[in-house]
Amino acid sequence: MAEPFYVTTAISYPNGAPHIGHAYEAIAADAITRFQRQAGRDVRFQTGTDEHGLKMVQAARAAGQEVADYAAAMSAGFRAMCDRLNISYDRFIRTTAPDHHAATQELWRRMAANGDLYLDRYEGWYSVRDEAFYDEKELVGEGDDRRSPQGTPVEWTAEETWFFRLSRYQQPLLDLYAASPDFIRPDSRRNEVARFVEGGLSDLSVSRTSFDWGVPVPDSPGHVMYVWVDALANYLSGTGWPGDAPERRFWPPDLHLIGKDIVRFHAVYWPAFLMSAGIDLPRSVFGHGFLLHRGEKMSKSIGNVVDPLALADAFGVDALRYFLLREVSFGQDGSYSADAIVTRVNAELANAFGNLVQRTLSFIAKNLDGVLPTPGKVDDADGVLIEEVLVACAGLRAAFGDLLLSQGIEGWLRGVFACNAYIDTAAPWALRKTDLERMHAVLGTLVRAIRLLAIAILPVVPGAAGRVLDQLGAEGRDHAAMDDEGWYARQAASGFRLTAPTPVFPRLELPVEVAA
Ligand code: MSP
Repeated sequence: MAEPFYVTTAISYPNGAPHIGHAYEAIAADAITRFQRQAGRDVRFQTGTDEHGLKMVQAARAAGQEVADYAAAMSAGFRAMCDRLNISYDRFIRTTAPDHHAATQELWRRMAANGDLYLDRYEGWYSVRDEAFYDEKELVGEGDDRRSPQGTPVEWTAEETWFFRLSRYQQPLLDLYAASPDFIRPDSRRNEVARFVEGGLSDLSVSRTSFDWGVPVPDSPGHVMYVWVDALANYLSGTGWPGDAPERRFWPPDLHLIGKDIVRFHAVYWPAFLMSAGIDLPRSVFGHGFLLHRGEKMSKSIGNVVDPLALADAFGVDALRYFLLREVSFGQDGSYSADAIVTRVNAELANAFGNLVQRTLSFIAKNLDGVLPTPGKVDDADGVLIEEVLVACAGLRAAFGDLLLSQGIEGWLRGVFACNAYIDTAAPWALRKTDLERMHAVLGTLVRAIRLLAIAILPVVPGAAGRVLDQLGAEGRDHAAMDDEGWYARQAASGFRLTAPTPVFPRLELPVEVAA
């Protein structure tokens, strides 16, 4: 039985339409998922929506709808985005689901049984936008201008609530960070979190009484859980915990992929809740950076919030996926714009890889009637090229295993460039007139190389790379297929024939309406 691998994204607040930041996280998690599946792991990928809390109540009110109806309709928009972007999730969880409520209440009971919950009065600052409590000392600005460290407005809140004894977990958390350096990645975020925890932890208010849109606290009428308790619990409830569903094999998660703004919740509160409840901890939390539009933060007031589906319609899903994973060094902030997408995709996908595939396959279709070339007259250059391509693909594999997505794609590109240099030097179109045997060897080498490169890049551009492999009749698409040196000989012997290929990586134009 393959080894389980459990990856999650944050679950999004569906209090507005999904934006490119949500798309980015889903695409990155999907590429990691597809890569781990290729590596032979038994993968579970969970994403979804975080539907409780005051922010959702206020958004529904503003839309003039019942919050349950509003949440259902808005959640469907997030799911549709995932489907459109070819996100291969295994479960799209909604925190309004009954199984999620039951599991979250069980988590609560276990924290209570461990003596970590007590009733008291909360008086302090709350940011509805972040759904977060803040200490006075964390705020910036004065008087009515007081803001959270994220720059969001805060309001004074005073109510009876349950508290979680977070203060008890200061040392256990610091021990965890020291013992498992990969628990928080990248390193810069680990240092930030460790400094926050070293500064001392106050107990955390974990229930609300001023509204009722949430998971009810067991045996405590009038209290619903603080939305982050319920939200974090999605990772656990989604595996069927505490029942005995087969998905339980995926616990603990290998990777919680989240944005840098919510690292504290995942790397401080979440492991503390789990320690309290006696549940194994996730292996790692990775805080990716933020996507900025032309270097600026997206905001409704600036009017630069770009709909990811409009970008997918304008440029294609694969082009958008490729751009986001290639352009941004994973973990850092990155900038996007329509012209940057066009430039990057045209240079690397359309001109470099797309052209290589198109030139090679159409040449075979036209000149050999689609029949795969014979071994022909072999030259050292052929072996050298295959070696370069294998090294490039191995580079991608090593990098993706470490979540170095952009570097991995860069490594892969070196293989593509090597093929283009080889085809220019070997010039099969000239060999057609002078040395047919050599022409066969060159084209056969290129087919081999293209198959390897297409399998390697599948996690990033599953649609287009899948079509390249369809054109080659290559069924195996995992790492074992890449390592299968006998594929070409078998495929050629089977009598397989290529048909005239249609280009799978079209050149992009900058459409007027998204040129901003
Ligand atoms: N509901 C919480 C997460 C609960 S997880 C138990 C939440 N939702 S969110 O909708 O605000 O954000 C969802 C994810 O999108 C987060 O990981 C967040 O960091 C990420 N992003 C939000 N804006 C982003 C960008 N501009 N760029 C990249 N990612 C961004 O937080």
